[in-house]
Amino acid sequence: MDKTIGIWMYQNSGGDKIEEKLVSKLRQRDIKSITNLNPRYGIAKNKDLFIKETLINDLDLFFSYNAGEQTQYQVYLYKIINNLMPMINSYESFTLSEDKFQTTFKLKNSGISTTDFELCHRDDTESLRNIMSQWKKMVYKPVDGWGGVGLTKIENEQTLDIILPFLNQADLRFFYVEKFVNYDNSDFRIDIVDGQFVSCYGRKASSDDWRTNITSGGSVFLREANDKLVDIAIKATKATGLDIAGVDIIYDRDKEEYVVLEVNGIPAFATPEQEKMGLDFNDKKLELITDMIERKIKDKG
Ligand SMILES: Nc1ncnc2c1ncn2[C@@H]1O[C@H](COP(=O)(O)OP(=O)(O)O)[C@@H](O)[C@H]1O
Ligand SMILES: [Mg+2]
Repeated sequence: MDKTIGIWMYQNSGGDKIEEKLVSKLRQRDIKSITNLNPRYGIAKNKDLFIKETLINDLDLFFSYNAGEQTQYQVYLYKIINNLMPMINSYESFTLSEDKFQTTFKLKNSGISTTDFELCHRDDTESLRNIMSQWKKMVYKPVDGWGGVGLTKIENEQTLDIILPFLNQADLRFFYVEKFVNYDNSDFRIDIVDGQFVSCYGRKASSDDWRTNITSGGSVFLREANDKLVDIAIKATKATGLDIAGVDIIYDRDKEEYVVLEVNGIPAFATPEQEKMGLDFNDKKLELITDMIERKIKDKG
């Protein structure tokens, strides 16, 4: 019997070409794809969920790979689609990875080194001050942010006093803060698919920033992994339950160990420019994804 999967994939930065390759790889294995299934256009009527003309209930798997166009509605439907069929990534692991605190808490409890962190109620400024006096430097992070946006480095107790009134004005439920890691302003991004190592590259912050994100002026460079890094990335991915993950790791100079910063559930493929630089992992990643889709469909059948 014919198998058909639904795809919602980012189209910018070469995503459209990646999607074409994925569709053609799947076709070679007699798996059909319906692309452009943006849940934004989802309509549920009684037991049926449609996205435009496609009856989602009939699909064998849904591949959701679009970080940029996510809406609350999309995430809301993600959950019911995942009740109907296997999803990559699963709803559960996807929502976990979208929340930095939920993720680091899970990682710490799985024995994986992460940055030290604290979560407290918005009114509990006393414990913020306490942890600040222990740590000396910390980073305030929105738990659902990306691209380095909203991260605030707090360098001393006076800075904390200055920004607390602002944080209190913002309509926050809680504070999530991390100890500021003494590191060389560069990181490792390790991609894992289906529990297997795909690739490693590095990013370094620009000279006037401490964040390695491209959106904060950081740049990508070629960087080899080592066994330790690969082991950490595989374990971190396993702990989150993600089928596809991009694990961000930095080296803590004080603790003299690698620490996981975050686990991304929709790690981008190399852009055409990055491919020219020598990041050549896209085909391997696509191959592993295709294998995994085929297997999950079979398991389901
Ligand atoms: N605890 C920390 N200590 C030092 N630098 C940090 C810390 N947390 C984040 N950074 C820097 O900020 C960047 C963005 O942080 P991250 O947690 O990955 O959030 P985002 O989802 O916005 O990328 C990291 O790539 C790293 O360079
Ligand atoms: Mg990051």
